[in-house]
Amino acid sequence: MAEKSFKYVILGGGVAAGYAAREFAKQGVKPGELAIISKELVAPYERPALSKAYLFPESPARLPGFHVCVGSGGERLLPEWYAEKGIALILGTEIVKADLASKTLISAAGESFKYHILIIATGSSVIRLTDFGVQGADAKHIYYLREIDDADKLVEAIKQKKNGKVVIVGGGYIGLELSAVMKLNNLDVCMVYPEPWCMPRLFTAGIAAFYEGYYAHKGIKIIKGTVAVGFTSDANGEVKEVKLKDGRVLEADIVVVGVGGRPLTGLFKGQVEEEKGGIKTDSFFKSSVPDVYAVGDVATFPMKIYNEMRRVEHVDHARKSAEHAVKAIFASEGTSVEEYDYLPFFYSRSFNLSWQFYGDNVGETVLFGDSSPTSENPKFGTYWIKDGKIVGAFLESGTPEENKAIAKVARVQPPADSLDQLAKEGITFACKI
Ligand code: FDA
Ligand code: NAD
Repeated sequence: MAEKSFKYVILGGGVAAGYAAREFAKQGVKPGELAIISKELVAPYERPALSKAYLFPESPARLPGFHVCVGSGGERLLPEWYAEKGIALILGTEIVKADLASKTLISAAGESFKYHILIIATGSSVIRLTDFGVQGADAKHIYYLREIDDADKLVEAIKQKKNGKVVIVGGGYIGLELSAVMKLNNLDVCMVYPEPWCMPRLFTAGIAAFYEGYYAHKGIKIIKGTVAVGFTSDANGEVKEVKLKDGRVLEADIVVVGVGGRPLTGLFKGQVEEEKGGIKTDSFFKSSVPDVYAVGDVATFPMKIYNEMRRVEHVDHARKSAEHAVKAIFASEGTSVEEYDYLPFFYSRSFNLSWQFYGDNVGETVLFGDSSPTSENPKFGTYWIKDGKIVGAFLESGTPEENKAIAKVARVQPPADSLDQLAKEGITFACKI
């Protein structure tokens, strides 16, 4: 089969790929030099939409509405944009073999792609219950959500199982966002997760108590401290029940599983240095192999502000790391670029709620504001304090100015003399910094 050759290849067609392409264009990439190879069938889009507006019952988001870079207020890159720039968008093409020594990628159909510089932007895949051998986990109507195809299957299931029962397995990002959107679709929703409170990798007990109370008020049932150990299905192989470890059995027409992601690094095993589950890079996203960069979910990079190697599975970093890597590639041809100095930023939205978090969630915490789940206008936050300094800040229902203020606090790390005073001042403290 014919071999294609490019100066630059981006492997993966997700968020990082799209933002990298825009930066390549800004840097003056020439027609024919750049290719994006993706197993998805559509041009890069803003993945966060899939667990939110894509599943809304009224006026759902659909492509081409949310192609990158609209999520950060930028230009929407339609497939025509890539064509105009002479960027090859090679879609529906899964790479099954990567040989970094000979700079060759091989697709499932046997095509061969050569590159001079490779950017790995393969993102993550979902962890499946079948990976742990959970009995009956291959039944029909058990769903996962990562790509637009998965979201389309969910849209179909919501139509088919009108007013049915949904069990959401997992209490992380997918669990919380999908429970809310399923409820908006008038389904009967029950969430199950093993921890004592939802989103334990970020939320404190105080933050979680608000969301759990709010969700309960919306009619979502929450079962904590147990896991799904099996599923029963009917004669058509469609899921009917979820069996829990504590012996309870839940009826289900649809199950959505969100029990975490796994960075897609398998193609490069043994060929490139890894750390903390990702591909190890320097501050310019260069891997241990010359001419190979890694960005987005798959990169473990120096988080300068905390002097530590970290991997981040969030969209803001996917966008910024991609842009930074491309700037670094062009810098080696003349201009200069600073080390990546990233301030972690995570966010989520569900119902009328919207929170943002900046910084590091370590140390003591102070909860402030009105965190009553039954308030008409809840607004609250939390500061994380380590070694006498504020290192992280969370805010629900902040204004754009207030969100900017908590970002500044996390970056500046002002001293926190009295926790009581901080609790009393709340967001006013951040707005003074
Ligand atoms: P991304 O997953 O976007 O792209 C990877 C691409 O590589 C895909 O196109 C994939 O098909 C392709 N690929 C992988 N292996 C391949 C192969 N072998 N051959 C060819 N192509 C291959 N974050 C946040 O901060 N706020 C939010 O609200 C959300 N919401 C959200 C919702 C949902 C449903 C998901 C799944 C994720 C989020 N996220 C999020 C996380 C965020 O979307 C994620 O961190 C970024 O998409 C990561 O960008 P990448 O480009 O690294 O991977
Ligand atoms: P997650 O890590 O946020 O949450 C996984 C949850 O599943 C945790 O609560 C975990 O303890 C629980 N769990 C683990 N095993 C379980 C089991 N056997 N039964 C029940 N629960 C179990 O992962 P996720 O929610 O699946 O999200 C997947 C990826 O998508 C992540 O990279 C995430 O960052 C990303 N994402 C981000 C956002 C956002 O930033 N707003 C939204 C959606 C998805």
